[in-house]
Formats: sequence, structure tokens, C-alpha cells
Amino acid sequence: MDIDKAPCTSTEERPGLRDDAAELSDVLRAGNTLVGQMVAMEKLLRIYNADNETVRQAAASLMSSLKTLAQDHPEIEIRFWRDCIYVNDVRLRCDISNFSSYKHLLKQAVGLEIEKILINDKASAKELIEFFGILNRVKDDDGSAGQLIEALEEAGIGDITVSPAAETQDLELLGIKPPSKRERAKKAFYSTLRAAKAAMLSQRPGGVPNLRKAKRAVQATVDVLLDDEASLLAMSAIKDHDEYTFTHSVNVCMFSLAIGHRVGLPRTRLAELGIAALFHDIGKVSVPASVLNKVGMLDVDEWKALRNHTLTGVQLLSKMPRCNQQIIRSLVVAFQHHINMDQTGYPSAEAEVPLDLYSKIVRIADTFDAMTTERPYMNKVHSPHEALQYLLSQAGTKFDPVLVKAFAASLGIFPAGTVVRLNTGETAIVVKHDPNDEPDMPVVKIIRNADGTQASGEEIVDLKDKHPETGEYLYAVAEALSCKEAGENPRYHLLP
Ligand SMILES: [Fe+2]
Ligand SMILES: [Fe+2]
Repeated sequence: MDIDKAPCTSTEERPGLRDDAAELSDVLRAGNTLVGQMVAMEKLLRIYNADNETVRQAAASLMSSLKTLAQDHPEIEIRFWRDCIYVNDVRLRCDISNFSSYKHLLKQAVGLEIEKILINDKASAKELIEFFGILNRVKDDDGSAGQLIEALEEAGIGDITVSPAAETQDLELLGIKPPSKRERAKKAFYSTLRAAKAAMLSQRPGGVPNLRKAKRAVQATVDVLLDDEASLLAMSAIKDHDEYTFTHSVNVCMFSLAIGHRVGLPRTRLAELGIAALFHDIGKVSVPASVLNKVGMLDVDEWKALRNHTLTGVQLLSKMPRCNQQIIRSLVVAFQHHINMDQTGYPSAEAEVPLDLYSKIVRIADTFDAMTTERPYMNKVHSPHEALQYLLSQAGTKFDPVLVKAFAASLGIFPAGTVVRLNTGETAIVVKHDPNDEPDMPVVKIIRNADGTQASGEEIVDLKDKHPETGEYLYAVAEALSCKEAGENPRYHLLP
């Protein structure tokens, strides 16, 4: 992109972004002022120290613009897309009055491969000053968004976050087809899986913890979730039995994020929840594999060793370098994630344990994934539909009813991975449920024909499809099948 020549000349809109700037003149005005103030802050910090009066005044002006913009949005998003800057989805105009700062800011963002900067309404003037100081440092080191994200984390700046430029921007400009939403979801799933594995294995004696990678992966997962929840949840229906603890951790992370998103947690809290969920079972690294994979009933000592993973998790997390808010929330979840709302479960305590919101979310996500995954010591694996029905039946006793409802809304009545019989007699597996659609009309893949013979596995049917002439739905779910009825592991149909 040649910014010098053409700032904001793109005529092609990024999908989902508003271009109704004329009707949003307040945002437009405040956004343009903001751009100028951001550039001023950056330049002032090249000359003065952070405690200089001029810098403080510039930060105060910036805070006041942010306040104006925060009236309708608890989080201000400054997005750099193609050769334009968007503030809260409003495209800012580049004209003679702001040409220089507009061009400068855009150039910085492209140079550092930043797609967006998010500032929540809790950001302080001190954090803003620190942010621009770090930005300058990273730029001087020829760094990119990745280094900036790490440096912000190290400095404990949680109210201003940065997202790296999606590869799609450059790919599209080069005329290459960008990855589909499903491919992005798949990438997020596997990179979170790798990061979870690396971080957990590093907890074994002699290992070095690597939380940064996990944080970055969770952040990318949050981005995919906010863009396309359905594809992300569809990924979790794929179970890998060889690496149960790791895939389980990633699934619990994704389900927890979906619940957190539904109950309105902002992006920074989602990232915190995602990490806590990812590491809820970290204590299992010290449970012997012979216990974890034992076929049949556990004896008293084995059961004790397994239950102990909650306490070991706390110990491991407390040893992490820099015991910040993030680690403390993760530590609480590691301790509480097997305690139900009615205080049944473990570890048991003499007095009632007030449960943290994240723990309650992870409890639901954990139960759902554990019930739907086949493991050597489990007599019965439940279909996602059955597991959801169980959660709903225990809402208000074991599980927080509001959170269960939020989860059900994300998953739909027939969650991905459920095998269903259609009214046509065919058997199908749910590939995906779009939370914005009807809850009982997912997208399915036909796996058996009406006569019971194996289907080609090529036919994908959207249950919302209607007959072009009669306007009637072509298919409907007649019943959800249990895993036993569905037959031998039908989920291989979901493998990407
Ligand atoms: Fe656990
Ligand atoms: Fe778990």
C-alpha cells in the first residue's frame, strides 16, 4: 500500500463497517481530533519525558476525545483498513485539515502491521502515555504488532490492546483469495492447541513457562469468535483422543469464550477468561498418565491423585513469573472449576466457597466437553445434544442458569457434532449452528441415506433452505440420536 500517494482512496468497503459518517458527524469530528492528538502524543514523547507537563496536557486532551467517543461504546476501536482509518466503524475522511496526521498515523500502523487499536473506557492518561512511549520504542527497534502486544503485556497495560493486521489485507491486495472463516477458525484452534501444549508441558520439571504464546493465540481466538462464533464452535466438535488434556483445554477455552461473549464481557475480559479456561486443568500435568488413561474404575488413591489436579494447578500457576491479575484469575479458576453452584464437587471446603464468574463459566464449558468426549474410563459418551439437555436440567442447582442459557443460545438446540435423523429419513451430523439463525435449523452433512447405506459425505444441507416454489422448508430434524444410536464415531466426518 502506498500511503503517500493515496490516503483513504479505497472505494471498496470492508464488510461489516459503517460508512454513514454524514449522519455521525460527532464521531467523525471526535475521531479526526483523536487522530491529531494521537500523533501529537507520539511526537511529544520523542522530545519530552513521560512526566513532562506538555505531555500530561496532551494526554488530558486525548482523554477528553476518548470520553466523547466512549459515550456509546465502552471500547473505542481505531481500525486501519486498506488506506483508511475507521473509528468505531466510522470511516474518517482525509482532507486538507488533517492530511498530515492522518497519513502519519496510517503509515505507523501499516509499518507495525497493526490492524486495530482498542482503548476501553477504563484506560487512564498514565496508560496512554505509557502506550505511546512503548509504541515509539517498538518502532525504533523495527518491531511489529507482535512485539508491541508483548511489550504492552509486560508493562501490564490491559486497557489498550492492539490486534495485528489480518493477513487478509495484503492477500486481497495481491489478488489472492483470503482464508475462509472456517480456515481462520481452524488456524485459531490449532495455534491455541500448540500454545496450550507448550505452556503446559513447560510446567513439567525443568520447563520454562511460555504464557506469551498462549496469550497471543487466545487473543486471535477472541478475534475469530467476535467475527464468526459459529465456525469457532464447530471446531470444538472435533475431538482428538490422543491428546485429550490439550484438546479438552482448547475446547473449554472456546466454549468459555462463547459464554463470556454472550453475557457481554468486553474483549480484554474475554482474553483473561480465555487464558483462565485454557489453563484450568494445568494441574493434570502432574497426574500420572496411568491414572489419566486408566480403563475402568479408579481406586481411592488414584481418585485422590486425579482430584488433586485442582490444588496442583494453583501451585503451578502461583509459580509463574509476574503474578499479575491475569494469573490470579487463572489460579482461582484452577481451584474452583470442579465446584458446582450448590457447592457439590471438589475440592470441598468447610465454609461455602463464593464462586468466581470465570469459574462458573468454565464449570459449564468443562462439563459439556467432558461429557461429549470419549475417554477410556468412561462408560458412556453423550451426544452434544444430550450434554446440553443435561446442563439445562441442572441449571439453577449445579450450574448458573443465566450462563447455561447463554451457552445454549450459542450452541443451538442441536450443537455441532450432534447426529440427527431428518424428516426425510436420512441421517446427518450437525456441522455448524449459526447463533443468529433459528436455534433448531443448523447446517448438517448427510452421512447416511434414508435406506441406511453410507452417503457420499459430500452433501451439506442448510436446514433453513426452502423449496423455491412452495416456500416450505426442505428438511427438518426429526430427532437427535444418542451416540449409541449414531453408531461408530461419526465425528470423523467433521475433520477438516
Ligand atoms: Fe479439571
Ligand atoms: Fe477440565
